[in-house]
Amino acid sequence: MSGLDGNVALVTGGSRGIGAAIARRLAAAGADVALTYRGDEAGARKVAQEIEALGRRATTIRADSADAAEVVAAVHETVARLGSLDILVNNAGFFPSKPFEDFTLDEVDRALDVHARAAFVAAQAAVTHMRGGGRIISIGSNLSERALFPGLALYNLSKSALNGFTKALARELGPRGITVNLVQPGSTDTDMNPANGDHAAGQLAFNPLGRFASPDDVAATVEFLAAPAGRSVNGAILTVDSGANA
Ligand SMILES: NC(=O)c1ccc[n+]([C@@H]2O[C@H](COP(=O)([O-])OP(=O)(O)OC[C@H]3O[C@@H](n4cnc5c(N)ncnc54)[C@H](OP(=O)(O)O)[C@@H]3O)[C@@H](O)[C@H]2O)c1
Repeated sequence: MSGLDGNVALVTGGSRGIGAAIARRLAAAGADVALTYRGDEAGARKVAQEIEALGRRATTIRADSADAAEVVAAVHETVARLGSLDILVNNAGFFPSKPFEDFTLDEVDRALDVHARAAFVAAQAAVTHMRGGGRIISIGSNLSERALFPGLALYNLSKSALNGFTKALARELGPRGITVNLVQPGSTDTDMNPANGDHAAGQLAFNPLGRFASPDDVAATVEFLAAPAGRSVNGAILTVDSGANA
């Protein structure tokens, strides 16, 4: 595969899980990749080494997605180190879940900052470098369209913001040759949501395929959107949840 030869991608939260799988996929398709992390420096370095073993360039940047200035700096640092930016993947995220009344204002702010504001400011910074077109792909959640369990009020508040953002930005940036899309994973086997975890059985009750997705299943959809084959997909919300929301 070489559909992304000559492209540079930035994946936020690329040290583990879905983000790491996306970084590997884009590199295998030919892209050089920058990835951000918040705490897992060793994980980020390992993913970077795997990318370099594929013959691509890789770089790691510590940037907390809760800090808008760090996110913007990571975008510009990507261009400083790798020379350009063609693909932005807003992936970094976490899973706040508890009864609605128990969330503090700080927790509300943090979820909105990491999931929504970070995507907004990263896209603002990225488009200054996407002179010849580009791709902006965010990672939302199937739960934002169908809340399968209680305890999701804050997660869904922050993730569903990406749905409206994606559509609005797709219309605004299309004339510049930049596509904007949203991938919504369902149950995916990562540290955040292990397939053998305590909550797995409850999720599988909704899942017609009877199994969690792998991080690479989600990454394959991101690769399609980033690649030339995906050039006419714009403003789309692609749900990769094994049919849980069907
Ligand atoms: N797994 C699922 O079932 C599932 C389902 C739907 C949607 N999603 C979404 O998919 C995305 C990836 O999830 P995952 O399952 O791969 O989670 P994960 O295994 O917990 O990995 C999370 C990744 O995001 C990074 N990250 C978290 N908070 C960050 C912050 N404030 N700043 C920068 N990086 C941060 C982590 O970096 P460090 O380790 O370095 O801190 C790590 O690389 C998230 O947006 C999540 O909401 C996951």
